[in-house]
Amino acid sequence: MESVNHCSFCSKHKDTVGKLIVGHDVAICNECVQLCDGLLKNKKNTSTRSEIKVPNPRDIRDYLNQYVVGQDSAKIVLSVAIANHYKRINNPDNFVEKSNILMLGPTGVGKTLLAKTVAKYLNVPFVIADATTLTEAGYVGEDADSLITRLYQHADCDVARAERGIVFLDEVDKISRKSESSTVTRDVSGEGVQQALLKLIEGTTIKISPTGSRKSDQYVEIDTTNILFIAGGAFINLDKIVKTRVQGTSMGFAAQLKNGDDMVNETVISEDLVKYGMIPEFVGRFSNVVSLQSLTKLQLISILKDVKHNFIEQYRWLFSQDGVDLEFEEESLELIAEKTLESKTGARGLHTELERILLPHMFDLHTYRKQSILKIAISPKLVNTPITLAQENG
Ligand SMILES: Nc1ncnc2c1ncn2[C@@H]1O[C@H](COP(=O)(O)OP(=O)(O)OP(=O)(O)O)[C@@H](O)[C@H]1O
Ligand SMILES: [Mg+2]
Repeated sequence: MESVNHCSFCSKHKDTVGKLIVGHDVAICNECVQLCDGLLKNKKNTSTRSEIKVPNPRDIRDYLNQYVVGQDSAKIVLSVAIANHYKRINNPDNFVEKSNILMLGPTGVGKTLLAKTVAKYLNVPFVIADATTLTEAGYVGEDADSLITRLYQHADCDVARAERGIVFLDEVDKISRKSESSTVTRDVSGEGVQQALLKLIEGTTIKISPTGSRKSDQYVEIDTTNILFIAGGAFINLDKIVKTRVQGTSMGFAAQLKNGDDMVNETVISEDLVKYGMIPEFVGRFSNVVSLQSLTKLQLISILKDVKHNFIEQYRWLFSQDGVDLEFEEESLELIAEKTLESKTGARGLHTELERILLPHMFDLHTYRKQSILKIAISPKLVNTPITLAQENG
């Protein structure tokens, strides 16, 4: 008997698929097995649709507090939106409008961190997508629909679960169209990506290939109406647009403004974002706009030593692997925070500072025990002038 070389379902040749399982005169490829598995799970899950327990916003906020310092209003907006999202998807009549969220704020203050932390807490499928990697359909790259494919995969190929998931669109400011804002780096296609996202956010039925293969003629349909979208972006120089509007268009006023000032939460309105280069329909789909604030010195110190899995804890663990204890004097922490504030990179600068100070030690850490060095205490002097390898060797 001639052996079967093609999948009996999708006709793909055995060389073009991962695995071909051959039976008596028939065969099935791994992609079709996955598809069938998804279809079976869908059937199972439609009956359990409304059994998700609604989390309470205070519990979500308390969880976020363990990992994210400050940003109180963003935490509250996020927690309420997520609790409402759960209520809404449990409602069989579906008459409650969703409230997508847009988070604005300077670089390194916790936008992506909030999204990632929320993702850990949730038991609905959640994907984080970088808007800069998205292209319009038909262009090389990941098109907007592929977000839903990822959501479907995160939902273990369960359509019902995917349809109530959450998508976090990061760096949305980078898909603004060319506008008055001189910082926009993207070309015309940014607007096309916004248009493509608009359809998903608005609610549409899209056909996706469960295996991610573009050629496959098998697909599942996903209705995006109930998927919650959270967007984040630094929107550099948006503050100038806001302040120009608030203070009048006089060049004299605008020129007096310092670059990189915090956006004033209440004053960011849709028109500002449109002026920045977001299309009005896109902005209109985000009923909650919340600004994150620059971090203060005290907050930076707290990020260094108080949050769960904080930076100091991370480095202490690394040092402990070589049997060396690492300590920081309180004043050193303050100095690190001050230097970070100057760098205007948000909390990311803390990491840079710590690397600068600790790198020379880490290079030779494995020799410290032999030299009976069991403890390194970081004094303010060491923060200002870290040891260099030459000094260490000499
Ligand atoms: N509020 C915060 N609380 C605790 N850690 C923070 C906070 N903000 C930033 N961090 C730390 O800084 C890192 C970078 O922050 P994050 O990725 O959230 O910045 P972002 O606001 O998304 O900036 P960007 O606009 O550049 O993407 C985080 O991984 C975290 O370690
Ligand atoms: Mg980010």
